[in-house]
Amino acid sequence: MTTPAADLADPIAASAATLRATGRAPRIAVVLGSGWSGLTGWIEDAVEVPYAELPAFPRPTVGGHAARVVLGRIGPHEVVLLAGRKHAYEGGRADSMNGAIRTLAALGVQILVLTNAAGSLDPAVPPGGLMLITDHLNLPQLSPLWDERDDRRFVDMTDAYDPTLRARALAASARQGVALHEGVYAWVVGPQFETPAEIRMLRTLGARAVGMSTVPETIVARHAGLHVLGLSMVTNMAAGMATQTLSHAQTLRQAQAASERACAALAAIIQALQ
Ligand code: HPA
Repeated sequence: MTTPAADLADPIAASAATLRATGRAPRIAVVLGSGWSGLTGWIEDAVEVPYAELPAFPRPTVGGHAARVVLGRIGPHEVVLLAGRKHAYEGGRADSMNGAIRTLAALGVQILVLTNAAGSLDPAVPPGGLMLITDHLNLPQLSPLWDERDDRRFVDMTDAYDPTLRARALAASARQGVALHEGVYAWVVGPQFETPAEIRMLRTLGARAVGMSTVPETIVARHAGLHVLGLSMVTNMAAGMATQTLSHAQTLRQAQAASERACAALAAIIQALQ
């Protein structure tokens, strides 16, 4: 397929054209956080495109995050998976995923599933547990929309995590016999982990999980008109709530251990989404 010359000047249009040239027309996209990359194993008829071929996509810098798009099917649905995200702690900006998410919208995606690894603030949700995000706390009060100029930037964040999709996810998990907890995700920039005092603060604010991603992506996705579902995999009890010291290596180890069960649950959820 040839890409129209005008599109080449626009990174989002050019990225969408490259993905469209694979012949796939996904309506569901998934951003794969730490521990969730095993979902690529559930894809049938997979086609891969490296982020390096997509000018609107980021160049992530973190170990454990690949950088490729995988298109294919899970059950009846065409899906597009984003393996690799760029975080606000890589340079201090909340808009690093804007181009990728706007490309998905341009491609015709309607549902965006955001996954992450998180610390738990609730002993009833131990490491290995899964939490459906019901709402979030944007603690840094950063926004991916600061370069927007028109009034559409005043995005309503009520029900940012789509209630209908959440109900379908809960029903699918119940059918699978998988415990899916629900709660508020608190976003911190990182990359340092929180202090025990910060975790006590977050608990009083009503957060059940804490992590360094997802929230900027939810905001730009809502601005782009996508419906969002958010899922956290708990990799550790948050700072001060257990005796272990926190590290990225420990996060990745626990994410790996919980990965197979979590990805099976997510595959079942995706099949139930539309
Ligand atoms: N805090 C912040 N981000 C995280 C954590 C945590 O405890 N675990 C995994 N990602």
